[in-house]
Amino acid sequence: MTEQGGTIKAPRGLAGVSVSDTRISKSSPDGGLVYRGYPIGELAAKATFEETAYLVLNGKLPTRAEFRDFAASLAALSKVDAGVFDIMRSLGPGAHPIDVMRTGVSALGSLDPERSRPGRERSIESKMAVLAANSRRVPAGEQPRLPADGEGFADTLLSMLTQREATQFERWVFERVLIFYMEHDMNASTFTVRVVASTLADPYAAASAGLASLKGPLHGGANEAAMDMLLQVRDPGDAKKFVDSAVREGKKLMGFGHRVYKRFDPRARLCKQYLREMVQRRGGDDGIYRVCDAVEMEMWERKRIPPNLDYYAAPIFYLLGIEIPLYTPIFAASRVFGWMAHYNEQTEENKLIRPDSTYVGPTGLTYKPIDERGP
Ligand code: SDX
Repeated sequence: MTEQGGTIKAPRGLAGVSVSDTRISKSSPDGGLVYRGYPIGELAAKATFEETAYLVLNGKLPTRAEFRDFAASLAALSKVDAGVFDIMRSLGPGAHPIDVMRTGVSALGSLDPERSRPGRERSIESKMAVLAANSRRVPAGEQPRLPADGEGFADTLLSMLTQREATQFERWVFERVLIFYMEHDMNASTFTVRVVASTLADPYAAASAGLASLKGPLHGGANEAAMDMLLQVRDPGDAKKFVDSAVREGKKLMGFGHRVYKRFDPRARLCKQYLREMVQRRGGDDGIYRVCDAVEMEMWERKRIPPNLDYYAAPIFYLLGIEIPLYTPIFAASRVFGWMAHYNEQTEENKLIRPDSTYVGPTGLTYKPIDERGP
């Protein structure tokens, strides 16, 4: 509130407005990104997915015993009730995988009598990967793919997503991309989760709201849209014409731009390096990398807008043989760890999130009976 007790008018989209203190992560316009104080480059170079998830959830890196127990709990809690798959299957092959995931999470909550008991979020985190991997095949009538024993979280998810063999380096890259998708301070879906958490709704409700928010092409849906766009540019030489026409038509290129990063997205920069190494190690056609690079150069030349994580995560998923409609579900399967960290942080020092608004509609009108309002 201002000193006079009036309201503070925030800029559209709450751009630049700090809505909460947080100890979980921070991205900055100069391309900085830390999770609980650790620079993303450090974590990308040295940490496993489970270590990073433990860090994001608990505020410190795990000891060996904590790591073992955490990894074991994720595996132990990943069993999804057959009834949830039945509900997902009932949606049919035309359902969007994120909608299928959202329905699956709601069903998990409805089937969990202890949905509001503290600690339930671990169950959601471990099951979301299974829901993601099956969010297209189960509604299409195929049998669910279930987690194999003994693999880490990233390998387990990749094995459920695609049957294409991945090299050790490619599995390492996939795990880095999951680490990048895990958390990103007050993005739209995380803010959605915090609003729901502030009403003291259960974590399943918060996760399903996060999924609804993530679906939009301005947010999580961008990785699918970016890949569809890249497949339209068959050759690097077509990049200039493609970008020129998009700019002329006032179209937004998916995978470009960011509310925070104005020079570069550190996650995109690292994924671009990984993509280049993936195509080099495979030998042969590096066309996909050259197209990405050419479109990026044209966008920077024309609009000084850098690529975001989605732009380079998408071709990595594509080379791994993952179906494009599963890209946003993968985003969700990792981001749920960040969402649950924010759910806990919000509820620990809660205040209902209920902003004000400035009324600009008509006033002073009087009611007229319907017969006096014209035909
Ligand atoms: C994610 O917030 C997060 O942290 C999100 C995320 C995370 O980890 O959670 O990083 C993940 O969602 C990344 C963003 C994925 N979305 C896309 O790739 C969709 C395309 N990008 C845009 O829609 C846009 O860049 C946003 C929504 C991401 C950010 O938009 P802002 O901050 O609201 O800025 P804006 O839309 O007002 O754009 C500012 C200017 C405009 O030009 P003018 O109208 O002022 O002339 O930049 C232009 C925009 O037209 N612009 C683009 C563009 N993005 C911005 N022009 C062409 N193509 C684009 N992609």
